[in-house]
Amino acid sequence: MSEDDRYGVLFDEIKIGPVVAPNRFYQVPHCTGMGYQAPNTLAAMRETKAEGGWGVVCTEYCSIHPTSDDTPMPSASIWDTADIKAHAKMVENVHRHGSLAGIQLWHGGYTSPNLYTREISVGPQSRPSARGNPVQSLAMDKRDIANYREWHRAAAQRAVDAGFDLVYVYATHGYILSQFLSPENDRSDEYGGCLENRVRLTREVLEDTREILRDRCALAVRISSDAGMTDGEPDSEEQKEVIALLADFPDLWDVNIHDYSYEMGTSRFVGEASLEKYVSYVKGLTGKPVVGVGRFTSPDTMLRQVQEGVLDMIGCARPSIADPFLPKKVKEGRIEDVRECIGCNICYAGDSLANPISCTQNPAMGEEWRRGWHPEYIPHRTSEKKILVVGGGPAGLEAARALGDRGYEVALAERRSTLGGRVSLEAELPGLAEWGRVRDWRLTQIDKMDNVEVFLESEVDCEQIREFGADQVALATGSHWRPDGIGRWHGSEVSGWRDARVITPDDIFSGMEISGPVLIYDDDHYYMGGVMAELLAGRGLSVTLVTPEPLVSAWTHNTEEQARIQKRLLELDVTIQANSALDRLSTESATLACTFTGRERVVEAPVVLMVTLRRPDEELYASLQDFIEEAEPGVVTRIGDCLAPGTIAASVRSGHRYAREMDEDVAHGAVPFRRESPELFD
Ligand SMILES: Cc1cc2nc3c(=O)[nH]c(=O)nc-3n(C[C@H](O)[C@H](O)[C@H](O)COP(=O)(O)O)c2cc1C
Ligand code: SF4
Repeated sequence: MSEDDRYGVLFDEIKIGPVVAPNRFYQVPHCTGMGYQAPNTLAAMRETKAEGGWGVVCTEYCSIHPTSDDTPMPSASIWDTADIKAHAKMVENVHRHGSLAGIQLWHGGYTSPNLYTREISVGPQSRPSARGNPVQSLAMDKRDIANYREWHRAAAQRAVDAGFDLVYVYATHGYILSQFLSPENDRSDEYGGCLENRVRLTREVLEDTREILRDRCALAVRISSDAGMTDGEPDSEEQKEVIALLADFPDLWDVNIHDYSYEMGTSRFVGEASLEKYVSYVKGLTGKPVVGVGRFTSPDTMLRQVQEGVLDMIGCARPSIADPFLPKKVKEGRIEDVRECIGCNICYAGDSLANPISCTQNPAMGEEWRRGWHPEYIPHRTSEKKILVVGGGPAGLEAARALGDRGYEVALAERRSTLGGRVSLEAELPGLAEWGRVRDWRLTQIDKMDNVEVFLESEVDCEQIREFGADQVALATGSHWRPDGIGRWHGSEVSGWRDARVITPDDIFSGMEISGPVLIYDDDHYYMGGVMAELLAGRGLSVTLVTPEPLVSAWTHNTEEQARIQKRLLELDVTIQANSALDRLSTESATLACTFTGRERVVEAPVVLMVTLRRPDEELYASLQDFIEEAEPGVVTRIGDCLAPGTIAASVRSGHRYAREMDEDVAHGAVPFRRESPELFD
């Protein structure tokens, strides 16, 4: 039972076939950019989730055979007995806290490029692999299908040997079983064509897996509840038939939707619990527990979904990344302490870019083993130092919070009348309101601390810092956008920028009213250029967005939102000038140059909004040089954007690291974390 009785239902035990989950909190499979390459890092990270109360903790997609290799994305693997040890470690860690461990057996089918294994990919048809790799798959014949079934059986056996409680048959996300299920599967044998034929392989693999698992492990299936995009009504008729055909065969249904960019949508486009209308019918077709996702952070929403019979178990990927202790906090009635996911998908960018997962809200994510960081516990201070943090943006707030948590006496000085810095400003932009959670969670925590004092409207200078007499000073003064056009394309100022009416996002934040057509030059390529275009077009202005990249907000393809941003801008009639660099400016016009040919064209530009590069606000740091020279090394430290402008996640991490390393013996120049080391054989 929850200590807060309202949420007691969320802590009911749930029987899943032969095993019992201690509650309804279910960490669905999510990859980490670690996979088979970082087993210690992974085992520690998954353990933290179990420690935080997740009743079921699953692996990421785990390849069953070398014909399924997603390199450069590091999936997990269970190719042979050598892989068992790493999984057994994760299982042991999860079991230590009374949770169940699940494994998602994965075969990518024709999407697998197999860049590492160099095996030929296989699928129902000969189709091109993912990410534009210029290779096609082998169309499987009956022997290939029998081989695949054998690989899956063998992998399931290894999963049992590793100690897992729950084994997935993975029939969605465009991988092999969904390729067979797809209406595009027009094979002429009994595995293609009509629906019954297309379902055959999924049913056979479920039967095979059941035979291996017997009554030792639960059999889960992950499948899509619809077959279309999310812009219209759900396109569920065929999936309903598929689910009805298999209704009570698996022990658990984990239902997602066809449109990944919606299933895993950023908060800019998709709200909490938005999958409800797509998945709510599934419980009517099966007597087995149903898990679904929806970036659930509110226990009230979770409770409602359970009470209204939408879901039996609350599936979470991102909420469990942002707060591995979410269930425990709900159980203890500490709802205000839940560190809510902001829906930015920086975690997914780790996967897209093939590097270990990180999180904007939870700087300890991925650092549990290699740096020994825990998301909830931080070592107590080892000195009586008094610390001044200047600047209350994401870096300053996190530094003050974490230092306060360590027990230090902290003063936080902010020149504005409110805290949050860039987070507060950016949260006012269209769709970004949830980003304010970065500030809100930290303020909630700081409010509880007697040892952290906040001074608003307090712009401090060199003299005041000297007079304040802090033992350590962290400067978190942020950054400002440059107006001069220096960015990725231009290493020096764009000619004529001083003659033109050039503004930056900072002018928009400070409330500057503009009228008439606006040309946005986006050489930053993350969200700011696109969101400024959305804001201004939404105000009725005529907006042209110029970018040297082929797509607007090009980097956001890593956060699975680029297509949605481009669609929104096109719908708002923003004119997009891609593959175009801003060459020079005059009072009313801009000369653009094609990034390939250099061919020029002149466009009207009475107002130019530059979104290129940010300049760290380091005037205060510069003014402190004498003080720094007189003081002990390291007394004054820059953190966050005023050290190096970056993502909000980078600022939070910077502030957190500052707090963690206070009074620690940090060996400068040394590798700052433990590394996984490959075994040498000769
Ligand atoms: C970083 C990340 C990695 C993911 N990797 C997988 C995966 O390996 N297998 C899978 O079935 N889904 C994967 N997903 C999708 C999630 O399981 C989940 O369906 C989706 O994130 C929506 O749930 P949420 O709103 O709770 O995040 C991943 C999601 C994220 C954010
Ligand atoms: S990175 Fe962003 S989306 Fe991902 S879990 Fe953290 S806060 Fe949520």
